[in-house]
Parts: sequence; C-alpha cells; structure tokens
Amino acid sequence: MKHIAVLTSGGDAPGMNAAIRAVVRYGIFSGLEVYGIEQGYAGLLEGKFVPMNMRSVSDIIQRGGTVLRTARCPEMTTEEGQQRAVEQLRAHGVEGVIVIGGDGSFMGAKALCEHGFPSVGIPGTIDNDLAYTDYTLGFDTACNTILDAINKIRDTMTSHDRVSIVEVMGRNCGDLALYAGLGGGAEVIIVPEHKIDIARVCERLEASKQRGKHSGIVVLAEGAGSADEWAKQIAERTGLSIRSTVLGHLQRGGSPSMKDRYLGTSMGVYAVQLLAHGIGNRVVGIRDNKLYDEDIVKACKMKKKFDVQLYNMAGVVAR
Ligand code: ADP
Ligand code: F6P
Repeated sequence: MKHIAVLTSGGDAPGMNAAIRAVVRYGIFSGLEVYGIEQGYAGLLEGKFVPMNMRSVSDIIQRGGTVLRTARCPEMTTEEGQQRAVEQLRAHGVEGVIVIGGDGSFMGAKALCEHGFPSVGIPGTIDNDLAYTDYTLGFDTACNTILDAINKIRDTMTSHDRVSIVEVMGRNCGDLALYAGLGGGAEVIIVPEHKIDIARVCERLEASKQRGKHSGIVVLAEGAGSADEWAKQIAERTGLSIRSTVLGHLQRGGSPSMKDRYLGTSMGVYAVQLLAHGIGNRVVGIRDNKLYDEDIVKACKMKKKFDVQLYNMAGVVAR
C-alpha cells in the first residue's frame, strides 16, 4: 500500500486531531503518502482530498474539534453514494482509508469494505456508545468538561439549598451521565438504558435531604427526557427548589485530556500499521487497557451493555 487517506465523520470529538496527526506523521514515517479528506463522507463524495505533509498537522494535538472538519452525509447511506465514494478513493490512487467517527461513520466504513475497499475505523465520539471498545476518543475530555460544570453548579446550589438537573449529551447511551455523575457525586443519575421513575427520583432526593443534605445534583442523559420537564415535575411533587441546566455543545469542544491525546495518537499509529500491512476491514479499540483490533462487521453488530453495577455503586456512595 502506497497511498492512504483519513477522514473524520459524524459528531466531532476531542482527540480526533491527535489521531489525524498520528495517522499523517506515522504514515509518512512508514513511507506512505497520506491524503486528508475534508468534511467526512460529504467531502469524500465531492473529492475534497488534501495531500498532507509533516507540517500540515503541526500545532493541532491540543485542539478540540477536527481540523479536517466533519459533516453528516445522507448520500453515503445509499448504494450510489457508496459506489461514488469508492470511485473517488480509487481515482486519487488511495488504497486504504481510515475513518474516525462513531457508529454511523463505522457503518459507512463497513460499506466501503463491502465494496472491496480496505477501511479501518478509529472510535471518535464523546458518547462512548461503541460496544467493542472500552473507550472512544473524546469521552474522557467530555466527562471532565461536565465535571467542571457540575462543580460550578454545585457551588451555587449549595449556597441556595437547591437541586439542579444537569442535562448532558447521550441520546441512546448514558455513559457520559454515568461517569460524570459518579465523579461529580450526583445524588441521582438518569439514563435511557436503566429506567427510573419520577416517584423514585423524588424519594431519593427527599431521603437525601433527610440525611442532612441541603442541595443536590441530578445528572440526566438527554435520551432520558428534558431537564426542564424533570425539574418541573420534581418541583411539583416535592416542593424542593429546583433549577435546570442543559450543557449542550460545550461538552463536545475543548482541549483534549491526556487520555484522549494518548488514545488518539496510539490508535492513529495502530490504524496505519494495519493498512501498511495490507490489513483492512478492522476497527481499532481498547479493551482492559490494551489496544486491539476487531472485525468491522462484528463490531458494528455488537450491542453495548450498560454498567448497572457501577450505576448502583454511584447511587450508594452519593447518599
Ligand atoms: P456518528 O458517526 O458520530 O455516529 P452519524 O450517525 O451522524 O454520526 O453518522 C455519520 C455519517 O456516517 C452519516 O452522515 C452518514 O454519512 C454515515 N452513515 C451513517 N449510517 C450509515 C449507514 N447505515 N450506511 C452508510 N453510511 C452511514
Ligand atoms: O456526538 C454525539 C452527540 O454528541 C450526541 O450525544 C448528541 O445528541 C448529538 O451528537 C448532537 O449532535 P449535533 O448537534 O451535531 O446534531
């Protein structure tokens, strides 16, 4: 293999730049020519290929977002779109592509593989919703961003004897809420995978008050309802003074943590090593602190299991 390409797709995540930098520099170090494809699959279909050199990726390891930019591209879900994607790659002499993104982006990479084009996926999404890997790029940074927000919100909640509902991202996966809730000492964590009804949430907050707490934090994953709605209903049932905060896209930005820079760098190098050895149709992940690769079709089929034990533990220690 002489020419490879790298693209970022779906929601951006801190650590994507570290991965791009590693792919470019390790690729060139390995004797390959590397293209960056701008704006994900949309840019791929439009032929937005940029030749990369060592200096193209200077000064980016510390930046959030993705310097290649990202996009959503419905056309890539169609047979015509997928064929055009392969044609574009071949027309540019590219023999293997590295896709950095989440589960949707991996479906695109899988489609490329099914069309006979070697592709390797690097998990990049703050949601941590890919079953085959313990961590995705951006998850650690996003958790730390949420913790910073919780700390600040707690200062004011404590001063006013209030409870705050803090809504975090995660449409189908409650990992951001679980880990940030655990680290931030949330009195209640509400996630889509493990239902808790309003009566139980109120009971928990009232019990917490009886144990001497004057304030509280409820961390809510967006997939389990809206902060305003939960706040309204809890206030009506308990009479507690409630406020709500939706953290929104600030969770997706920011300078990557050490962990995300490490993961981005080592997964980028790993992905290049696979392609350089002529190995495609894989995704790179980390399991029990060890990097590994998995078949892309198998990885896309795996269903993520929610860590109920950790959830229960977080509840017990926040009493
Ligand atoms: P993420 O990768 O963060 O999960 P999305 O779900 O928005 O983000 O997917 C990113 C892009 O991946 C989509 O805009 C589309 O181009 C591509 N994609 C998603 N699903 C599929 C699919 N089933 N087949 C092919 N490509 C897909
Ligand atoms: O990156 C994943 C994610 O952050 C989800 O948790 C969230 O619902 C979604 O992306 C929002 O993305 P956008 O605003 O870009 O559509």
